[in-house]
Amino acid sequence: MEIPTHMTGILGSLGTDSLKQIGSQVFTIRAIFIGLAVLLLVLVRRRYSSIYRIPGPFGASLSRLWHVRQIIRVDQNLRLVEQHDKHEVSVSHPDGIKKLLLAPVPKGDWYKVFCFPDYRYIAPIAGTYAESHEGMELDKFFTYVAFDITGEMLFSKPFGFLDKGEDVCGAIAMNVGLEVYLAIFGFYRWVHWLVANPLVTWTQLVPMGHLFHTANSALSERQKNPDARFDVAAHWFRGLARAEKENSPHFNLRALQAAASSNVGAGSDTVSCGLQSFVYHMIRHPGEWQRVRDEIDAAHKLGRCGQRVVLYEDASQLPYLQACIKEALRIFCPVPMGLPRLAPKGGITIGDQFFSEGVTLTISPFWGMGYASCPGQHIARVQLTKITATVVRDYDIRQVDPKQEWTWSAYFTVVPHDWPVYISKR
Ligand code: HEM
Repeated sequence: MEIPTHMTGILGSLGTDSLKQIGSQVFTIRAIFIGLAVLLLVLVRRRYSSIYRIPGPFGASLSRLWHVRQIIRVDQNLRLVEQHDKHEVSVSHPDGIKKLLLAPVPKGDWYKVFCFPDYRYIAPIAGTYAESHEGMELDKFFTYVAFDITGEMLFSKPFGFLDKGEDVCGAIAMNVGLEVYLAIFGFYRWVHWLVANPLVTWTQLVPMGHLFHTANSALSERQKNPDARFDVAAHWFRGLARAEKENSPHFNLRALQAAASSNVGAGSDTVSCGLQSFVYHMIRHPGEWQRVRDEIDAAHKLGRCGQRVVLYEDASQLPYLQACIKEALRIFCPVPMGLPRLAPKGGITIGDQFFSEGVTLTISPFWGMGYASCPGQHIARVQLTKITATVVRDYDIRQVDPKQEWTWSAYFTVVPHDWPVYISKR
């Protein structure tokens, strides 16, 4: 820093010791100011925040960084439940479902991170292994099948993961980057504005650019396909034509592209996780696996569950299979974090607790309900039911190392890996 000329005389008349003393005094004053500011922040957050009386970890009461740390540690699903058991950091009262999920309360700002690839897009959310007896990474194939079914359902064409038996163009690997991004930067939207802008979309350097490219290419190809079925894209194009005719500002090509990306992103890892949770837990409880198989065999004797891939109408009638699917989703929920809702105008009372307007509240995603619940839940149910029934009916599966636990990272969704299996046709 340049010292003004009238100051040099004054400073020159002071000795080195005096200068050091002044320096250390300035340092002490700054330290006191910073200390006071931190104290004030602690006081405001701990005593005057409208939710100060809700118990929770000290760090979480001061800043969102506590939660972000759990996301980075990749086990937020366990930590959030642990804190919930200990304190009550997210709403578990039965009234919560009615008042937060079934009522039209606004979603938390975190969702704005779903305007990807950049802020202009308005998303509504935001047989060989059986024969060779080699170890198989079944987790990967569940992810491939889930992505391909999403492609088939949305665009009348699978993405080709199963055909090639590999992660084509690294699309699935890039999706993990997107999961990390969504989980953290929903809380720091300034980063989202910085990163998710049209220039970055154009370079495709960030994960959502890649997902957007995959979904958007499939959508453009679908637009040119005269043989497409009446798939989800057909509904979208119909809506788009109507919106254009009526000059609607709410639905345009960008909204449609954003919906395509959201569905590809939201519909694949989640189903893979559900399938994996079912098979991983069931093969570790062989008695339960056998009980489901007995249930399917009994149905087979009555003329059901006989098709190459078990029909939904048959398998949905099997109560034990259905209970096991639900349990697999409950004990290892594919979406590990509570999804925020804002207390509406005038505040909200849940149980005996009042939350003032604007307070962010969450409920376990396993309880999804209401206007913002998963729009893909029916197709997810069909996939989980048909695939699990067919796999249990037709294959014997055991872990290569029965003692090996799977590995996973809980970001926006959680997709397990590293539990190779031997699989043989029954
Ligand atoms: C086991 C599988 C699945 C699970 C556990 C799951 C779970 C969820 C959850 C918890 C949400 C957020 C709801 C909220 O904000 O409160 C959600 C949203 C969403 N899901 Fe799913 N999902 C699954 C499968 C699917 C499938 C197969 C699709 C589509 C093919 C899909 C498409 C979507 C979309 C587009 C949204 C955003 C909805 C919005 O705009 O608000 N999901 N899902």
